[in-house]
Amino acid sequence: ARILLLNGPNLNLLGRREPHLYGATTLVQIEEMVQTLGQAWGWEVECFQSNHEGALIDRIHDAFGQVDLIIFNPGAYTHTSIALRDALTGVAIPVIEIHLSNIHGREEFRHRSLIAPIAVGQICGFGADGYRLAMEAARYYLQRRSA
Ligand code: DQA
Repeated sequence: ARILLLNGPNLNLLGRREPHLYGATTLVQIEEMVQTLGQAWGWEVECFQSNHEGALIDRIHDAFGQVDLIIFNPGAYTHTSIALRDALTGVAIPVIEIHLSNIHGREEFRHRSLIAPIAVGQICGFGADGYRLAMEAARYYLQRRSA
């Protein structure tokens, strides 16, 4: 399978940024873990992070027909970006939404996700381990789909 791991704004600061909320693991470590897991399964994993909404949209467009599933932490764009949601529905690639923190237990403005209604599912609250869970979820989803 071909997987795109997408991370949105401020996630490049992981490990340094509010570690009480987001943990001590860096994005490089998360990307390495996801790559290693993907390699063990014979998958192609590409990783991309951007702080720019348009760059994320461009990367999603580039994935059209090239990627089987997107694992996406849209950061704060989760709660605001109709454009990212439209990009995802536009390329019709299944997406698993992931957040390090439990967005439903935090400020009210984080409870709503514009991505969740069009996602296969959402994983949140498990810190960096959530990316591993997202990979497992992707494996089950793709198996089920091709069965
Ligand atoms: C986040 C949750 C968002 O509300 C926040 O804006 C982030 C990180 C998370 O992974 O917990 O940037 O997506």
